[in-house]
This record gives sequence, structure tokens and C-alpha cells, in this order.
Amino acid sequence: MTPVMPSDFDPRNAEPEDFVPPGLPKDIANTTGRLPVGDPEQVPDPAEVEVPEDLREQIQTVVDKYPDSENSGSPKSAAIPVLWIIQRRYGWCTPEGIVQAACVMQVTPAYLESVASFYDLLRTSPQGEHQVLVCTNLACWMRGGDELLDSFCEKTGADREAAGHGGSLSEDGKVLVSGFECLGACDLAPMASVDERYFGPLENGDAARIVDQLEAGEEVLPEKALERRGLAGGVAESTDPRVTEGKGPNR
Ligand code: FES
Repeated sequence: MTPVMPSDFDPRNAEPEDFVPPGLPKDIANTTGRLPVGDPEQVPDPAEVEVPEDLREQIQTVVDKYPDSENSGSPKSAAIPVLWIIQRRYGWCTPEGIVQAACVMQVTPAYLESVASFYDLLRTSPQGEHQVLVCTNLACWMRGGDELLDSFCEKTGADREAAGHGGSLSEDGKVLVSGFECLGACDLAPMASVDERYFGPLENGDAARIVDQLEAGEEVLPEKALERRGLAGGVAESTDPRVTEGKGPNR
């Protein structure tokens, strides 16, 4: 049975966590309620939504790669890369950013909310200035992934329980620490993603070094960065712009 809100629930006076229906946990980051901006089921009116011009161009460039047609393709198909743009601009998928994206794409904010809340890498709550994802899946777990996550939590003051269930912010609110399922770099086990870059194999002492380096604005563990690793078969030039322009997530 779907839980319902109490009859005296007044959204105007509610705190974000009050939007979680009775009977559901309120302390998990991904279930924290959020106030929608406008009507989430209405396609925003371009005359009423202010969208920065550079953001509009970025979104439109992505949308243009997914032309609408009778049988396949739709602006809706651009949802994930567009939400990624929103997250990179605002730090997370803010309600305002989602409305701006929905306005350019001419889809409902509710649709983009549903996509953003489904994927773990898209955040629907503030995630600090830095994002540390620690893999705790099988290969990394067998080589100390859980202890590595412990070390990050001890260093930052993030809540260990919450970090293992969706993420927890450090005490100063600047670093998001989150356990994560396989990040697809098992040969680096135990490994972590720090601000979209992969590092490993990590030792527990590396957690404190990484946090110190982030706070100091220094390069993180260059000797353990995936992007610095040699390639099997030797160094080869790449023509892939995701590599040459350094824009891929697995740099
Ligand atoms: S198990 Fe950790 S990256 Fe695959």
C-alpha cells in the first residue's frame, strides 16, 4: 500500500524531510524530499523561465543530437547528458536547474526528476564541492574497500552508515563520501572515484592524503591516477576527443 501524507500536512510550512511519507526512512540522502519549482507536470513556458544563454546553448547542442522522429529518437533521449550538464553547473540537479532544462527541452520537470532520481551518479540533493565514491563491490571489498570507506568517513567526519546508503557529507559540507557498487575499474581494487577521476589501488592511509590534497587544492595522488597509468602495448596516440580533451568520466 502506498503511504499517504497526513491530512494536516501543509507543504508551505514543511521542512524538506517532511515530504517523505510516513513509514519511509527520512535519513537516507536519496529519499530526502525536495520542493518542486512550479508544476512538475506542466512543460515550462519559455516566456516565464529564465535560462542563462550559455546553458541554453549547451542543452540545445545535446538535444540536437537526438532528433525527434516517428519511430525513434526524442528530446527525452537527451535527459541523462542534459542532467549531467545541470549537475556540473550547479553541483547537483537542483529543482531550478531541472526546470531550466525542461524548458529548453520542452519536456515536463517531472520527467527529468524521474530520471535524476533513478541514477546514482545524478544527485538530487547538495553534494558538496568534491565527490568521493568508494567502490565496495566484490573485487574492491575483498581487497579492503569497506575499510577504505571507513577511512574516508573518519577523516571527513561523514556518517559511515549514511555513506554506505546513498552518501554523506563531511562535517564541513564540502566533501560527499559515498560507498558505490562496481565502478568498472576492478583491476584498480580497492579504488575510488574522486571528482570523476579514478584512483587505485588505494591503501587506507591514502584516504587522509586525498582529503588533505582536496582541501589544499592540490592534485590528488598523481602516482595512483588511472589517467597516468601506462597502456597495455605501450603508449599510443588517441583521436578520441574524450581522451584528447580530457572530458570523459574515466580520465
Ligand atoms: S569491484 Fe570495485 S571497481 Fe569493480
